[in-house]
Amino acid sequence: MKDVDLFIKKLHYFDKKFKLIINQNNNDLKVEYLELCELIDKYSSFITNRENEKHWNYIKQSIEIIALIENLRNNSSVCIQIVEKHRAFVLGLENEEITDYFRNIEDCIEKEFGDFQINSQSKVIMVGSGAFPLTLLMVAERTGAEVFGIDIDDEAIHLGRYVVSRLGRHLAIQIEKKTVGELTVMKQISHIIFSSTVSNKYAILDQLYALTNKDVLIAMRYGNGLKSLFNYPKQKVDENKWQIVEEIIHPHNVFDVILYQKVQ
Ligand SMILES: C[S@@+](CC[C@H](N)C(=O)[O-])C[C@H]1O[C@@H](n2cnc3c(N)ncnc32)[C@H](O)[C@@H]1O
Repeated sequence: MKDVDLFIKKLHYFDKKFKLIINQNNNDLKVEYLELCELIDKYSSFITNRENEKHWNYIKQSIEIIALIENLRNNSSVCIQIVEKHRAFVLGLENEEITDYFRNIEDCIEKEFGDFQINSQSKVIMVGSGAFPLTLLMVAERTGAEVFGIDIDDEAIHLGRYVVSRLGRHLAIQIEKKTVGELTVMKQISHIIFSSTVSNKYAILDQLYALTNKDVLIAMRYGNGLKSLFNYPKQKVDENKWQIVEEIIHPHNVFDVILYQKVQ
């Protein structure tokens, strides 16, 4: 079997596995959490494997393949949400695992704003803070900044607040089920981070132009090419509104980051 055929076969394998887990979760059947974590780890290695990058460039973008890619992106993102919710539920029972999780993403968050670092005077928003709001905790802990998380999912809001109450009670973190238009602090915000798995992140970015101050800095997490199997990719922005000030590529991580500022 040719390498590209094997690559596509693996995509179908992941697609089947993700659908199975989502189906179990939707029908209140027991999700094998360890199996799900292993699957996510395998998928992450698959996405960051240089060899697979070559195969990606050879696949023909037929209607079926495009649908498969979209399914993988949407379903892997739902599976990440299931993992985050589980991690929040078992908090206190499995502390070691949580420490590992922290260590894993630490490096990436540290480099998130490149030369435009967050400090104790900063006010930061994360769009899509999730049920296990690791980014909020890390940013607030390391910089002393005031941090706000927003999410559209009630359960993620509820669990996110619970995790913060357990791990970051001493930190300036608030989590709200609000849109960017509903946040009253918006004009004072210095940094905004977008979770890579927010599907309409570029529509929200466009909206932010009118809502934010002139110096606001945006960190847009994204994944192009092979990484678009796990992330919503980069899109064109209105050139009269936003300009790219830095691109931070994480070869060993599942997402990359683009920094935008307003066109002055
Ligand atoms: C993978 S999780 C969060 C990231 C992770 N907890 C972190 O700290 O990096 C993505 C979250 O984005 C949320 N989300 C999706 N679309 C959104 C939107 N339009 N606005 C706000 N949150 C959104 C989902 O409900 C989910 O909880």
